[in-house]
Amino acid sequence: MIDFDLTKIPREGICTLPTPIQYMPRLSKYLQDVNVYVKRDDLTGIALGGNKNRKVEYLLGDALKKGADTIITEGTLTSNHCLQAAAGAAKIGLNCEIVLSDAPIGEKIPMNLLFTKLLGIKVHRVKTSAERKTKMLEIASHFEKKGDVPYIIPSGGSDKIGIFGYINFFKEIALQSEKMGINFEYFIHGTGSAGTQAGSIVGKKIFYPNLEVIGINAGYKKEKIVMKIKSIINEFALDNSLNLKINDSEIIVLDDFIGEGYEIISDEILETVRLIANLEGIFLDPVYNVKAMIGLIGLAKKNYFTKGSNILFLHSGGNQAFCHFVEPVLEKLNKNL
Ligand SMILES: Cc1ncc(COP(=O)(O)O)c(C=O)c1O
Repeated sequence: MIDFDLTKIPREGICTLPTPIQYMPRLSKYLQDVNVYVKRDDLTGIALGGNKNRKVEYLLGDALKKGADTIITEGTLTSNHCLQAAAGAAKIGLNCEIVLSDAPIGEKIPMNLLFTKLLGIKVHRVKTSAERKTKMLEIASHFEKKGDVPYIIPSGGSDKIGIFGYINFFKEIALQSEKMGINFEYFIHGTGSAGTQAGSIVGKKIFYPNLEVIGINAGYKKEKIVMKIKSIINEFALDNSLNLKINDSEIIVLDDFIGEGYEIISDEILETVRLIANLEGIFLDPVYNVKAMIGLIGLAKKNYFTKGSNILFLHSGGNQAFCHFVEPVLEKLNKNL
């Protein structure tokens, strides 16, 4: 095991932790031969909850350490991250501005943007994701000229600082699993901007060595995710003088469950959301978590997991995404399902 003292890392405790780990008895019975548990990071206790809150705790810690008074961050119009970063900044009294690029949802106001506006955050709109960085630098320079200290958080909070959130997550799970008397063999989560997976791979190495981390791609380019996981981990290791050896075989990003594409609501997605809601009374968001669950079910059906093993599934929040897709969802529910 690697010796690493997380308590020395600056952190703003904006979340209510630990989040619960719940057994999913009816899903486990449905799948046979495996025990599925869900880690409820949709219940992180700030804004609408979700995985980004954990990263934001450490990013805000770093921002304050550097004397920042303004947070600038980026995402698409539907971004969960931007809302969570903005809410975190509000909670500790920092100014925040966000840069949002268009998403293919027409004229609808996404729920995340609505809540961001309720926070009173200044929103800058650009057409494409490629324009976001330049816009953020422009805003930062505007603040610097006034004598303020801006701090830029990259997309998804996925960098060498943000990943502390999911390193800490594994410390939390190690304690919870000891208390519960359960050893988890697999951890399954939706993957996108790669920070959750990079943090999980490092976190398990430090706090939970024998677990397999499986990232289910929500619709990005797999090579990009894998490259980003490697580069974040390398920068993290350098920064913290850690001799971390991560083999390629430890970076498991599965592409097989993307379905029709990112943010496309297929029949399979709605059927799986319904299945889990009916079995466990838990709703999965239609962009990330449901794909991770389709992956879990698909792998179980292929006998990927050792018989009788304990699988920990991450609920990373984001249910508000349903509000972007009310019409297609209703249409499918009325017609097909
Ligand atoms: C609800 C939800 N789950 C999972 C993810 C994926 O996490 P990451 O971007 O750290 O890969 C995201 C990212 O946007 C998300 O919003």
